[in-house]
Amino acid sequence: MRYAAHLLVVLLLGAACGNGAVPPDTADAAADVASAFACPPGTVATMANLVPLPVASTPDGGQFCLPASAAIEVNPPTPELLAIGQYLAAQLRPATGFALEVRGTATPQPGNIHLAKAQGKWALGEEGYGLTIAADGVTLTAAQPAGLMRGIQTLRQLLPATIEAGTPQPGPWPLATGTIHDQPRFAWRGLMLDVARHFFAVADVKRLIDAAAYYKINRLHLHLTDDQGWRLVITSWPQLSALGGSTEVGGATGPLFYSQAEFADLVAYAAARYITVVPEIDMPGHSNAALASYAALNCDNTATALYTGTEVGFSSLCIDATPTTKFVGDVLGEVSKLTPGAWLHIGDDEAKSTSAADYASFVQALQPMVAATGKKLIGWADIGHATLTSGAISQHWNPYDPTSVQLAVQQHAQALLSPANRAYLDMKYDADTPLGQVWAGLVDEQQAYAWNPATEVPGVGEADIVGVEAALWTETIVTLADIEVMTFPRLAGLAEVGWSPVASNDWAGYRLRIAAHGPRLSAMGVGFYKSARIPWE
Ligand code: ACM
Repeated sequence: MRYAAHLLVVLLLGAACGNGAVPPDTADAAADVASAFACPPGTVATMANLVPLPVASTPDGGQFCLPASAAIEVNPPTPELLAIGQYLAAQLRPATGFALEVRGTATPQPGNIHLAKAQGKWALGEEGYGLTIAADGVTLTAAQPAGLMRGIQTLRQLLPATIEAGTPQPGPWPLATGTIHDQPRFAWRGLMLDVARHFFAVADVKRLIDAAAYYKINRLHLHLTDDQGWRLVITSWPQLSALGGSTEVGGATGPLFYSQAEFADLVAYAAARYITVVPEIDMPGHSNAALASYAALNCDNTATALYTGTEVGFSSLCIDATPTTKFVGDVLGEVSKLTPGAWLHIGDDEAKSTSAADYASFVQALQPMVAATGKKLIGWADIGHATLTSGAISQHWNPYDPTSVQLAVQQHAQALLSPANRAYLDMKYDADTPLGQVWAGLVDEQQAYAWNPATEVPGVGEADIVGVEAALWTETIVTLADIEVMTFPRLAGLAEVGWSPVASNDWAGYRLRIAAHGPRLSAMGVGFYKSARIPWE
Protein backbone atom coordinates (compact mmCIF):
# COMPACT_ATOMS: atom_id res chain seq x y z
CA MET A 1 0.00 0.00 0.00
CA ARG A 2 2.71 2.41 1.04
CA TYR A 3 4.85 1.31 -1.89
CA ALA A 4 2.00 1.85 -4.37
CA ALA A 5 1.33 5.36 -3.08
CA HIS A 6 5.02 6.03 -3.26
CA LEU A 7 5.21 4.90 -6.90
CA LEU A 8 2.26 7.09 -7.82
CA VAL A 9 3.99 10.13 -6.35
CA VAL A 10 7.10 9.28 -8.32
CA LEU A 11 5.16 8.98 -11.57
CA LEU A 12 3.21 12.20 -11.01
CA LEU A 13 6.38 14.08 -10.16
CA GLY A 14 8.12 12.74 -13.24
CA ALA A 15 5.26 14.10 -15.33
CA ALA A 16 5.11 17.38 -13.44
CA CYS A 17 8.75 18.06 -14.08
CA GLY A 18 8.29 17.33 -17.78
CA ASN A 19 10.66 14.42 -17.69
CA GLY A 20 9.31 12.96 -20.93
CA ALA A 21 11.24 11.33 -23.75
CA VAL A 22 13.33 13.63 -25.90
CA PRO A 23 12.16 13.64 -29.56
CA PRO A 24 14.97 11.97 -31.53
CA ASP A 25 14.55 14.08 -34.67
CA THR A 26 14.85 17.54 -33.23
CA ALA A 27 17.16 20.24 -34.58
CA ASP A 28 18.35 21.50 -31.26
CA ALA A 29 18.86 18.41 -29.14
CA ALA A 30 20.61 20.29 -26.35
CA ALA A 31 17.72 22.70 -25.85
CA ASP A 32 15.29 19.81 -25.81
CA VAL A 33 17.38 17.94 -23.25
CA ALA A 34 17.25 21.05 -21.09
CA SER A 35 13.53 21.58 -21.61
CA ALA A 36 13.01 17.97 -20.56
CA PHE A 37 13.89 19.20 -17.05
CA ALA A 38 11.90 22.42 -17.21
CA CYS A 39 9.68 23.21 -14.25
CA PRO A 40 5.90 23.67 -14.36
CA PRO A 41 4.75 27.25 -15.02
CA GLY A 42 4.73 29.38 -11.89
CA THR A 43 7.52 27.42 -10.14
CA VAL A 44 9.67 29.62 -7.91
CA ALA A 45 13.36 28.92 -7.24
CA THR A 46 15.95 31.18 -5.64
CA MET A 47 19.57 31.26 -4.51
CA ALA A 48 18.77 34.02 -2.03
CA ASN A 49 18.15 32.12 1.20
CA LEU A 50 21.42 30.34 1.87
CA VAL A 51 22.90 30.24 5.39
CA PRO A 52 25.86 30.59 5.62
CA LEU A 53 25.91 33.01 2.72
CA PRO A 54 28.28 31.74 0.01
CA VAL A 55 31.31 33.69 -1.15
CA ALA A 56 29.73 34.16 -4.58
CA SER A 57 26.45 33.11 -6.12
CA THR A 58 25.38 34.02 -9.63
CA PRO A 59 21.87 32.98 -10.61
CA ASP A 60 21.18 33.23 -14.33
CA GLY A 61 17.39 33.39 -14.19
CA GLY A 62 16.67 29.81 -15.28
CA GLN A 63 15.45 26.72 -13.49
CA PHE A 64 16.22 23.02 -13.41
CA CYS A 65 13.62 20.65 -12.00
CA LEU A 66 15.06 17.48 -10.53
CA PRO A 67 13.39 14.62 -12.42
CA ALA A 68 12.23 11.34 -10.96
CA SER A 69 14.84 9.66 -13.14
CA ALA A 70 17.73 11.58 -11.53
CA ALA A 71 20.79 9.60 -10.52
CA ILE A 72 23.58 10.77 -8.24
CA GLU A 73 26.88 10.32 -10.07
CA VAL A 74 30.21 10.37 -8.28
CA ASN A 75 33.63 10.72 -9.83
CA PRO A 76 35.93 9.06 -8.98
CA PRO A 77 33.81 6.23 -7.53
CA THR A 78 35.89 5.68 -4.38
CA PRO A 79 34.16 4.24 -1.30
CA GLU A 80 34.44 7.68 0.31
CA LEU A 81 32.75 9.51 -2.57
CA LEU A 82 30.12 6.80 -2.99
CA ALA A 83 29.30 7.23 0.71
CA ILE A 84 28.90 10.97 0.17
CA GLY A 85 26.61 10.22 -2.77
CA GLN A 86 24.57 7.91 -0.53
CA TYR A 87 24.37 10.64 2.12
CA LEU A 88 22.90 13.02 -0.46
CA ALA A 89 20.51 10.35 -1.72
CA ALA A 90 19.37 9.68 1.84
CA GLN A 91 18.64 13.39 2.30
CA LEU A 92 16.58 13.65 -0.90
CA ARG A 93 14.77 10.30 -1.09
CA PRO A 94 12.16 10.61 1.67
CA ALA A 95 10.54 13.83 0.38
CA THR A 96 10.96 13.23 -3.36
CA GLY A 97 10.16 9.55 -3.31
CA PHE A 98 12.74 9.24 -6.12
CA ALA A 99 15.02 6.22 -6.35
CA LEU A 100 18.16 8.40 -6.79
CA GLU A 101 20.52 5.62 -7.72
CA VAL A 102 24.12 6.38 -6.72
CA ARG A 103 26.69 5.36 -9.30
CA GLY A 104 30.23 6.08 -10.36
CA THR A 105 30.82 7.78 -13.71
CA ALA A 106 33.15 10.36 -15.16
CA THR A 107 30.59 11.39 -17.79
CA PRO A 108 27.61 13.34 -16.45
CA GLN A 109 24.30 12.38 -18.04
CA PRO A 110 21.47 14.91 -18.39
CA GLY A 111 19.11 15.24 -15.46
CA ASN A 112 21.56 14.00 -12.85
CA ILE A 113 23.49 15.38 -9.90
CA HIS A 114 27.20 14.91 -10.54
CA LEU A 115 29.63 15.01 -7.58
CA ALA A 116 33.26 15.33 -8.61
CA LYS A 117 36.45 15.49 -6.60
CA ALA A 118 38.59 17.67 -8.79
CA GLN A 119 40.35 20.99 -8.88
CA GLY A 120 37.74 23.09 -10.70
CA LYS A 121 38.09 26.65 -11.92
CA TRP A 122 38.15 28.04 -8.38
CA ALA A 123 40.78 27.55 -5.67
CA LEU A 124 38.59 25.76 -3.15
CA GLY A 125 40.81 24.54 -0.32
CA GLU A 126 39.84 21.88 2.21
CA GLU A 127 36.12 22.64 2.41
CA GLY A 128 35.36 24.84 -0.59
CA TYR A 129 33.16 23.77 -3.47
CA GLY A 130 31.88 24.93 -6.82
CA LEU A 131 28.26 24.31 -7.77
CA THR A 132 26.97 24.68 -11.29
CA ILE A 133 23.26 24.28 -11.84
CA ALA A 134 22.47 24.10 -15.53
CA ALA A 135 19.12 23.63 -17.22
CA ASP A 136 19.95 19.95 -17.64
CA GLY A 137 21.66 18.99 -14.40
CA VAL A 138 23.80 19.77 -11.37
CA THR A 139 27.58 19.56 -11.02
CA LEU A 140 29.18 19.89 -7.60
CA THR A 141 32.98 20.01 -7.60
CA ALA A 142 35.37 20.11 -4.66
CA ALA A 143 39.08 19.55 -4.18
CA GLN A 144 38.38 17.46 -1.06
CA PRO A 145 35.49 15.23 0.05
CA ALA A 146 34.68 17.66 2.87
CA GLY A 147 33.96 20.29 0.23
CA LEU A 148 31.41 17.99 -1.39
CA MET A 149 29.71 17.55 1.99
CA ARG A 150 29.52 21.34 2.46
CA GLY A 151 28.25 21.82 -1.10
CA ILE A 152 25.56 19.20 -0.53
CA GLN A 153 24.19 21.36 2.31
CA THR A 154 23.98 24.27 -0.13
CA LEU A 155 22.16 22.07 -2.63
CA ARG A 156 19.63 21.03 0.06
CA GLN A 157 19.04 24.66 0.94
CA LEU A 158 18.44 25.55 -2.73
CA LEU A 159 15.57 23.06 -2.99
CA PRO A 160 12.13 23.88 -1.55
CA ALA A 161 11.82 23.59 2.24
CA THR A 162 9.63 20.50 1.84
CA ILE A 163 12.71 18.59 0.65
CA GLU A 164 13.51 18.14 4.37
CA ALA A 165 10.26 16.29 5.07
CA GLY A 166 10.48 12.66 6.09
CA THR A 167 7.55 11.53 3.89
CA PRO A 168 6.79 11.96 0.14
CA GLN A 169 5.82 15.51 -0.83
CA PRO A 170 4.19 16.71 -4.05
CA GLY A 171 7.19 18.66 -5.41
CA PRO A 172 8.21 19.84 -7.98
CA TRP A 173 11.91 20.08 -7.02
CA PRO A 174 13.23 23.21 -8.71
CA LEU A 175 16.73 24.66 -8.46
CA ALA A 176 17.63 28.15 -9.66
CA THR A 177 20.25 27.78 -12.37
CA GLY A 178 23.61 29.53 -12.18
CA THR A 179 26.85 29.09 -10.28
CA ILE A 180 28.04 29.24 -6.70
CA HIS A 181 31.60 29.10 -5.49
CA ASP A 182 32.27 29.04 -1.85
CA GLN A 183 34.81 28.37 0.87
CA PRO A 184 35.02 29.12 4.59
CA ARG A 185 36.63 32.15 6.20
CA PHE A 186 37.78 30.09 9.21
CA ALA A 187 38.94 26.47 9.42
CA TRP A 188 37.11 25.85 12.74
CA ARG A 189 33.36 26.32 13.01
CA GLY A 190 32.41 24.44 16.11
CA LEU A 191 29.57 23.52 18.38
CA MET A 192 30.20 22.49 21.98
CA LEU A 193 27.70 20.39 23.88
CA ASP A 194 28.01 19.92 27.64
CA VAL A 195 26.98 16.31 28.24
CA ALA A 196 28.29 16.47 31.82
CA ARG A 197 25.77 18.75 33.57
CA HIS A 198 23.01 16.81 31.86
CA PHE A 199 23.68 13.67 29.87
CA PHE A 200 22.35 13.23 26.34
CA ALA A 201 21.97 9.87 24.66
CA VAL A 202 23.77 9.00 21.42
CA ALA A 203 20.53 9.32 19.40
CA ASP A 204 20.00 12.90 20.62
CA VAL A 205 23.56 13.91 19.84
CA LYS A 206 23.23 12.41 16.35
CA ARG A 207 20.16 14.53 15.69
CA LEU A 208 22.09 17.60 16.77
CA ILE A 209 24.98 16.60 14.49
CA ASP A 210 22.59 16.32 11.54
CA ALA A 211 21.14 19.77 12.13
CA ALA A 212 24.59 21.33 12.70
CA ALA A 213 25.87 19.78 9.46
CA TYR A 214 23.15 21.69 7.60
CA TYR A 215 24.97 24.93 8.59
CA LYS A 216 28.43 23.59 7.65
CA ILE A 217 29.62 23.17 11.26
CA ASN A 218 32.81 21.08 11.21
CA ARG A 219 33.69 20.44 14.88
CA LEU A 220 31.64 18.87 17.67
CA HIS A 221 33.31 19.60 21.00
CA LEU A 222 31.93 17.29 23.69
CA HIS A 223 32.39 18.54 27.25
CA LEU A 224 32.60 15.01 28.66
CA THR A 225 33.52 15.61 32.30
CA ASP A 226 32.67 18.09 35.02
CA ASP A 227 31.79 18.26 38.71
CA GLN A 228 28.39 16.70 38.05
CA GLY A 229 29.38 13.76 35.88
CA TRP A 230 31.96 11.73 33.98
CA ARG A 231 30.41 10.58 30.71
CA LEU A 232 32.89 8.26 28.99
CA VAL A 233 34.10 4.83 30.06
CA ILE A 234 37.84 4.82 30.80
CA THR A 235 38.81 1.16 30.97
CA SER A 236 41.82 1.71 33.24
CA TRP A 237 39.79 3.82 35.70
CA PRO A 238 36.32 2.21 35.58
CA GLN A 239 34.84 4.03 38.59
CA LEU A 240 34.97 7.33 36.68
CA SER A 241 31.87 6.37 34.72
CA ALA A 242 30.47 3.65 37.01
CA LEU A 243 30.23 6.02 39.97
CA GLY A 244 31.13 9.44 38.55
CA GLY A 245 28.70 8.92 35.67
CA SER A 246 25.74 7.96 37.83
CA THR A 247 24.35 11.44 38.53
CA GLU A 248 23.69 14.76 36.80
CA VAL A 249 22.37 18.19 37.76
CA GLY A 250 19.17 17.70 39.69
CA GLY A 251 20.25 14.28 40.90
CA ALA A 252 18.87 11.76 38.40
CA THR A 253 20.67 8.45 38.60
CA GLY A 254 22.52 6.65 35.85
CA PRO A 255 24.00 5.00 34.00
CA LEU A 256 24.60 8.37 32.33
CA PHE A 257 27.70 7.77 30.22
CA TYR A 258 28.88 6.53 26.82
CA SER A 259 30.53 3.16 26.47
CA GLN A 260 33.67 3.34 24.34
CA ALA A 261 31.73 1.63 21.53
CA GLU A 262 28.96 4.24 21.73
CA PHE A 263 31.50 7.04 21.71
CA ALA A 264 33.21 5.50 18.67
CA ASP A 265 29.83 5.28 16.93
CA LEU A 266 29.22 8.97 17.64
CA VAL A 267 32.67 9.88 16.34
CA ALA A 268 32.04 7.88 13.15
CA TYR A 269 28.60 9.41 12.65
CA ALA A 270 30.05 12.89 12.91
CA ALA A 271 32.99 11.95 10.67
CA ALA A 272 30.60 10.78 7.93
CA ARG A 273 29.36 14.40 7.92
CA TYR A 274 32.95 15.71 7.98
CA ILE A 275 32.54 16.88 11.55
CA THR A 276 35.47 16.18 13.87
CA VAL A 277 34.68 15.29 17.47
CA VAL A 278 36.87 17.19 19.93
CA PRO A 279 36.70 15.47 23.35
CA GLU A 280 37.14 17.59 26.46
CA ILE A 281 38.36 16.22 29.78
CA ASP A 282 38.13 19.20 32.11
CA MET A 283 41.02 19.46 34.60
CA PRO A 284 42.28 20.37 37.21
CA GLY A 285 39.02 22.07 38.31
CA HIS A 286 35.52 21.00 37.22
CA SER A 287 36.68 17.59 38.39
CA ASN A 288 34.42 16.54 41.26
CA ALA A 289 33.05 13.51 39.41
CA ALA A 290 36.61 12.13 39.23
CA LEU A 291 37.39 13.18 42.83
CA ALA A 292 34.26 11.35 44.02
CA SER A 293 35.21 8.25 42.02
CA TYR A 294 38.80 7.88 43.28
CA ALA A 295 40.03 8.94 46.73
CA ALA A 296 43.62 8.91 45.47
CA LEU A 297 42.99 11.94 43.24
CA ASN A 298 42.35 14.07 46.35
CA CYS A 299 45.21 15.58 48.36
CA ASP A 300 43.59 14.28 51.59
CA ASN A 301 43.06 10.85 50.01
CA THR A 302 39.34 11.05 50.77
CA ALA A 303 36.75 10.76 48.01
CA THR A 304 34.34 13.68 47.76
CA ALA A 305 30.58 13.25 47.59
CA LEU A 306 28.88 13.17 44.20
CA TYR A 307 27.60 16.62 43.25
CA THR A 308 24.32 17.52 41.54
CA GLY A 309 24.26 21.31 42.02
CA THR A 310 25.39 24.07 39.67
CA GLU A 311 28.17 25.92 41.53
CA VAL A 312 31.59 26.15 39.85
CA GLY A 313 35.17 26.47 41.06
CA PHE A 314 35.17 24.25 44.16
CA SER A 315 37.06 21.17 42.93
CA SER A 316 40.69 20.47 42.10
CA LEU A 317 42.76 17.42 41.31
CA CYS A 318 45.74 17.07 43.63
CA ILE A 319 48.53 18.67 41.59
CA ASP A 320 52.00 17.06 41.30
CA ALA A 321 50.73 13.89 42.98
CA THR A 322 51.70 10.54 41.44
CA PRO A 323 48.13 9.20 41.15
CA THR A 324 47.05 12.41 39.36
CA THR A 325 49.87 12.14 36.85
CA LYS A 326 49.03 8.50 36.17
CA PHE A 327 45.32 9.34 35.92
CA VAL A 328 45.94 12.13 33.41
CA GLY A 329 48.24 9.96 31.31
CA ASP A 330 45.86 7.00 31.29
CA VAL A 331 42.78 9.10 30.51
CA LEU A 332 44.44 11.12 27.75
CA GLY A 333 45.87 7.91 26.31
CA GLU A 334 42.49 6.17 26.11
CA VAL A 335 40.62 9.24 24.88
CA SER A 336 43.19 9.94 22.18
CA LYS A 337 42.91 6.34 20.91
CA LEU A 338 39.13 6.74 20.64
CA THR A 339 39.47 9.99 18.75
CA PRO A 340 40.80 10.13 15.19
CA GLY A 341 40.66 13.96 15.23
CA ALA A 342 43.74 16.05 15.82
CA TRP A 343 42.74 17.70 19.12
CA LEU A 344 42.41 16.94 22.81
CA HIS A 345 40.65 19.59 24.91
CA ILE A 346 41.98 19.65 28.46
CA GLY A 347 39.60 22.25 29.89
CA ASP A 348 41.62 24.17 32.47
CA ASP A 349 38.95 26.82 33.04
CA GLU A 350 37.89 28.32 36.35
CA ALA A 351 40.46 26.42 38.43
CA LYS A 352 39.52 28.57 41.42
CA SER A 353 40.48 25.88 43.94
CA THR A 354 43.94 25.36 42.46
CA SER A 355 46.71 27.80 43.45
CA ALA A 356 48.19 29.90 40.64
CA ALA A 357 51.51 28.10 41.02
CA ASP A 358 49.89 24.66 40.94
CA TYR A 359 47.80 25.68 37.92
CA ALA A 360 50.87 26.82 35.99
CA SER A 361 52.74 23.66 36.90
CA PHE A 362 49.76 21.47 35.92
CA VAL A 363 49.34 23.08 32.48
CA GLN A 364 53.11 22.87 32.04
CA ALA A 365 53.05 19.13 32.76
CA LEU A 366 50.00 18.51 30.58
CA GLN A 367 51.55 19.85 27.39
CA PRO A 368 54.11 17.07 26.82
CA MET A 369 51.50 14.50 27.89
CA VAL A 370 49.09 15.68 25.21
CA ALA A 371 51.94 15.86 22.71
CA ALA A 372 52.82 12.23 23.57
CA THR A 373 49.35 11.17 22.39
CA GLY A 374 50.05 12.75 19.00
CA LYS A 375 47.25 15.28 19.46
CA LYS A 376 47.21 19.05 19.61
CA LEU A 377 46.27 20.72 22.86
CA ILE A 378 43.26 22.93 23.16
CA GLY A 379 42.23 24.50 26.45
CA TRP A 380 39.98 27.28 27.67
CA ALA A 381 41.61 30.71 27.49
CA ASP A 382 42.75 30.49 31.12
CA ILE A 383 45.76 28.44 29.89
CA GLY A 384 47.25 31.76 28.75
CA HIS A 385 48.35 32.27 32.37
CA ALA A 386 50.72 29.30 32.08
CA THR A 387 53.78 29.04 29.85
CA LEU A 388 52.57 27.59 26.57
CA THR A 389 54.57 25.52 24.17
CA SER A 390 53.84 26.10 20.52
CA GLY A 391 50.75 24.79 18.79
CA ALA A 392 48.14 25.25 21.53
CA ILE A 393 44.66 26.60 20.88
CA SER A 394 43.20 28.90 23.51
CA GLN A 395 39.40 29.05 23.59
CA HIS A 396 38.24 32.51 24.60
CA TRP A 397 35.00 32.35 26.56
CA ASN A 398 34.74 35.09 29.18
CA PRO A 399 33.93 38.48 27.65
CA TYR A 400 34.94 40.15 30.94
CA ASP A 401 38.42 38.62 30.63
CA PRO A 402 40.18 39.40 27.35
CA THR A 403 43.55 39.08 29.08
CA SER A 404 43.73 35.28 29.16
CA VAL A 405 43.41 34.81 25.41
CA GLN A 406 45.68 37.80 24.77
CA LEU A 407 48.38 36.18 26.93
CA ALA A 408 47.96 32.93 25.01
CA VAL A 409 48.21 34.63 21.62
CA GLN A 410 51.32 36.49 22.78
CA GLN A 411 52.77 32.99 23.33
CA HIS A 412 51.90 32.06 19.74
CA ALA A 413 48.79 30.09 20.61
CA GLN A 414 45.89 30.30 18.19
CA ALA A 415 42.56 31.62 19.42
CA LEU A 416 39.19 29.94 19.14
CA LEU A 417 36.47 32.48 19.83
CA SER A 418 33.46 31.58 21.95
CA PRO A 419 32.78 34.87 23.73
CA ALA A 420 29.83 34.10 26.00
CA ASN A 421 28.02 37.32 25.07
CA ARG A 422 27.95 36.11 21.43
CA ALA A 423 28.45 32.38 21.32
CA TYR A 424 27.10 30.85 24.54
CA LEU A 425 23.86 29.17 23.59
CA ASP A 426 22.90 28.77 27.25
CA MET A 427 22.45 32.53 27.58
CA LYS A 428 18.80 33.53 27.31
CA TYR A 429 17.75 35.14 24.02
CA ASP A 430 15.59 37.69 25.84
CA ALA A 431 13.80 38.20 29.11
CA ASP A 432 11.04 35.82 27.99
CA THR A 433 13.32 32.83 27.37
CA PRO A 434 12.31 30.13 29.88
CA LEU A 435 15.66 28.28 29.88
CA GLY A 436 19.22 29.45 30.27
CA GLN A 437 21.36 31.94 32.14
CA VAL A 438 22.14 35.66 31.97
CA TRP A 439 25.64 36.10 33.45
CA ALA A 440 27.01 37.27 30.08
CA GLY A 441 23.85 39.20 29.21
CA LEU A 442 21.05 38.36 26.81
CA VAL A 443 22.21 36.87 23.51
CA ASP A 444 19.54 37.44 20.91
CA GLU A 445 19.81 36.35 17.27
CA GLN A 446 21.42 39.65 16.22
CA GLN A 447 23.96 39.58 19.05
CA ALA A 448 24.99 36.05 17.98
CA TYR A 449 25.25 37.05 14.32
CA ALA A 450 26.36 40.66 13.95
CA TRP A 451 30.02 40.56 15.01
CA ASN A 452 33.47 40.17 13.56
CA PRO A 453 35.80 37.72 15.32
CA ALA A 454 38.83 39.68 14.10
CA THR A 455 37.82 42.81 16.03
CA GLU A 456 36.27 41.13 19.09
CA VAL A 457 39.36 41.04 21.33
CA PRO A 458 42.05 43.75 21.06
CA GLY A 459 45.35 42.17 20.04
CA VAL A 460 43.70 39.05 18.64
CA GLY A 461 43.44 39.49 14.88
CA GLU A 462 42.32 37.45 11.90
CA ALA A 463 45.67 35.62 11.58
CA ASP A 464 45.56 34.55 15.25
CA ILE A 465 42.07 33.08 15.00
CA VAL A 466 41.41 29.46 14.10
CA GLY A 467 37.67 30.00 14.16
CA VAL A 468 34.50 30.34 16.21
CA GLU A 469 32.58 27.91 18.36
CA ALA A 470 29.09 28.06 19.81
CA ALA A 471 28.82 26.48 23.25
CA LEU A 472 25.79 25.00 24.96
CA TRP A 473 26.22 24.45 28.70
CA THR A 474 23.44 22.35 30.10
CA GLU A 475 22.83 23.30 33.74
CA THR A 476 19.27 24.29 32.70
CA ILE A 477 19.01 22.11 29.58
CA VAL A 478 17.44 18.69 30.12
CA THR A 479 15.90 17.41 26.87
CA LEU A 480 16.70 17.37 23.17
CA ALA A 481 13.88 19.90 22.70
CA ASP A 482 15.69 22.18 25.19
CA ILE A 483 18.92 21.77 23.21
CA GLU A 484 17.22 22.64 19.94
CA VAL A 485 15.36 25.73 21.12
CA MET A 486 18.57 27.21 22.55
CA THR A 487 20.71 26.16 19.57
CA PHE A 488 18.51 27.23 16.67
CA PRO A 489 18.52 29.66 15.07
CA ARG A 490 21.57 31.11 16.87
CA LEU A 491 23.92 28.36 15.69
CA ALA A 492 23.09 29.28 12.08
CA GLY A 493 24.15 32.88 12.70
CA LEU A 494 27.39 31.81 14.38
CA ALA A 495 28.05 29.35 11.56
CA GLU A 496 27.76 32.22 9.12
CA VAL A 497 30.16 34.35 11.21
CA GLY A 498 32.66 31.51 10.88
CA TRP A 499 32.06 30.73 7.21
CA SER A 500 31.11 33.83 5.24
CA PRO A 501 33.27 36.80 4.22
CA VAL A 502 33.18 39.55 6.85
CA ALA A 503 31.98 42.09 4.27
CA SER A 504 28.74 40.15 3.82
CA ASN A 505 27.78 40.28 7.51
CA ASP A 506 24.52 42.18 7.30
CA TRP A 507 21.83 41.71 9.91
CA ALA A 508 18.98 43.09 7.77
CA GLY A 509 19.70 40.60 4.99
CA TYR A 510 20.51 37.69 7.30
CA ARG A 511 17.24 38.19 9.18
CA LEU A 512 15.27 37.55 5.99
CA ARG A 513 17.41 34.60 4.93
CA ILE A 514 17.13 32.84 8.25
CA ALA A 515 13.38 33.51 8.28
CA ALA A 516 13.15 31.23 5.24
CA HIS A 517 14.77 28.48 7.31
CA GLY A 518 11.80 28.23 9.68
CA PRO A 519 9.91 25.83 7.39
CA ARG A 520 13.17 23.95 6.72
CA LEU A 521 13.88 23.33 10.41
CA SER A 522 10.21 22.45 10.95
CA ALA A 523 10.29 19.95 8.08
CA MET A 524 13.39 18.38 9.68
CA GLY A 525 11.57 18.22 13.00
CA VAL A 526 14.16 20.52 14.59
CA GLY A 527 12.80 22.93 17.18
CA PHE A 528 13.88 26.58 17.24
CA TYR A 529 13.23 29.80 19.15
CA LYS A 530 10.49 31.70 17.29
CA SER A 531 11.12 35.25 18.43
CA ALA A 532 9.35 38.19 16.75
CA ARG A 533 12.78 39.58 15.84
CA ILE A 534 12.82 37.22 12.85
CA PRO A 535 9.93 37.43 10.31
CA TRP A 536 9.54 33.64 10.24
CA GLU A 537 7.96 32.28 7.07
C1 ACM B 1 33.52 28.22 30.89
O1 ACM B 1 32.45 28.73 30.55
N1 ACM B 1 33.83 28.04 32.16
C2 ACM B 1 34.49 27.80 29.90
